[in-house]
Amino acid sequence: MKNSSTVLEIKPTDTTMNSKITLLEQKQAEALLGGGQKRIDAQHKKGKLTARERLHFLLDEGSFEEIGMMVTHRSKDFGLENELYLGDGVVTGYGTIHGRLVYVFSQDFTVFGGSLSETHAEKICKVMDLAMKNGAPFIGLNDSGGARIQEGVVSLGGYADIFYRNVRASGVIPQLSGIMGPCAGGAVYSPAMTDFILMVENTSYMFVTGPNVVKTVTHEEVTSEELGGAMTHATKSGVTHFACANEIEAITNIKQILSYVPQNCEEDAPSVPYENTGSESRPELNTIIPENANQPYDIREVIEKVIDDNSFLEIHKLFAENIVVGFARLAGRSIGIVANQPAVLAGVLDIHSSTKAARFVRFCDCFNIPLLVFEDVPGFLPGTDQEWNAIITNGAKLLYAFSEATVPRITVITRKAYGGAYDVMNSKHIGADMNFAWPIAEIAVMGAKGAAEIIFKGEISAAANKDEKWKEKETEYQTMFANPYRAAERGFIDEVIKPEQTREKLIRAFKMLENKVDKLPKKKHGNIPL
Ligand code: HXC
Repeated sequence: MKNSSTVLEIKPTDTTMNSKITLLEQKQAEALLGGGQKRIDAQHKKGKLTARERLHFLLDEGSFEEIGMMVTHRSKDFGLENELYLGDGVVTGYGTIHGRLVYVFSQDFTVFGGSLSETHAEKICKVMDLAMKNGAPFIGLNDSGGARIQEGVVSLGGYADIFYRNVRASGVIPQLSGIMGPCAGGAVYSPAMTDFILMVENTSYMFVTGPNVVKTVTHEEVTSEELGGAMTHATKSGVTHFACANEIEAITNIKQILSYVPQNCEEDAPSVPYENTGSESRPELNTIIPENANQPYDIREVIEKVIDDNSFLEIHKLFAENIVVGFARLAGRSIGIVANQPAVLAGVLDIHSSTKAARFVRFCDCFNIPLLVFEDVPGFLPGTDQEWNAIITNGAKLLYAFSEATVPRITVITRKAYGGAYDVMNSKHIGADMNFAWPIAEIAVMGAKGAAEIIFKGEISAAANKDEKWKEKETEYQTMFANPYRAAERGFIDEVIKPEQTREKLIRAFKMLENKVDKLPKKKHGNIPL
């Protein structure tokens, strides 16, 4: 395979169109083989698809148009001038997914381990520029040993050229990253700046420094999988939004995400045809919340009963499970859902759930996807761990994200809305358009037990039977505040609704908000508490 592109030089006597076409076909065939059959076989042996096979599954059949197939590297060091591969380790171009235009790159591990050279980076930048100019999503399929070691700083510069474009494109076009193999060193920062990351279990990993460096510096013994595998990043760090069982699942999820989002920030969120064939009433919602206010229930069951059948695509499923986020359809229209999850940690807000939800809210707002919030939150999680790791700054991210969002925003309080978390979870005060509450809702500064202990402290300690007094005061506070009517009297809740009415009310309210126009004050950009 060495110097493979030059063996096909045309002879000066071959001047006919036919011979030139033959040469073109030979070059194309050579490019399709990447680093050669042996390395393709090795890739398959690892349970991985090749760069081109991935694109085959990702894009509509026959829609792929390749750009830069004949590009080779320019390196002359370490004998690299004698080792040229057409395409230089990355397949780039455009195609369609469900008929909609997308721009793609897919790194070819069979060529120098998919490592990024100057020209490899230039190819990626070229499609990124086209994606921006033409307002269409950009998808990167990563499988790379990182910077092309033989090229040194030229390769590092190539990475920075990509990072810069990721940031410029952020909020303008959707950017998605499939991690299908290694992604290490500074290379991780391109996916990190895209909107969604999807990793494949057991064959992909992401880390800034690998196990060997970790061992030298911190003396920790850790495998690549433990350090930066799909499950690690899906559950511990939250770096990846999806941990997929295999590459096909990752590709399928990429396509599904795109079905909910517009092509760019100027377009409305897409919708699918919807016909109301029956009643929108959902009586089963009336009995979904347990009698005991401290008993958990799965908010996903509420979500499923409210949205269009089987339309929920959960994002970040395994991370910060005390909050649920994802895309859905309501009467055919895309919406983004943020929901406290009473089944995990009673749905409390903490550092991870706040940042998870904040990032999702901001994505939806960037791309005109209306937001629906289901609220059942006992407050923020107390403790030194949370305080020392900056729950103040991190909780503020969610507050900031909701407050700056200009898309249609609706909240349904299903049960608890306590303390600062009431404000944060898309309250009327921070710009929500419609706020509903179920009759069982409790909207107050804090739970009745704690409240009674503080405001009736004197009375309780003076009582002959302290426990009895405390209980009496708890009930008094409970009766006064543990309901939705105080908030409704003030207009903080627009309507107290029967649970069974939820779907219908939401369909109507989102329809009413269809043409909402809301603009932020003129500014360069806000300063979200990072
Ligand atoms: C050039 C590379 C390469 C690289 C791999 N190859 N990485 N060539 N530059 N970075 C080549 C190998 O020489 C080999 O060539 C082929 O790719 C496959 O590599 P193997 O090692 O045989 O594969 P495997 O055993 O699967 O291991 C994959 C790997 C390992 C874990 C990725 O290759 C590796 O550790 N590579 C180096 C990773 C690295 O340190 N990169 C730099 C990180 S720093 P042949 O000819 O044998 O097929 C960085 C900074 C970016 O990226 C900063 C941006 C700001």
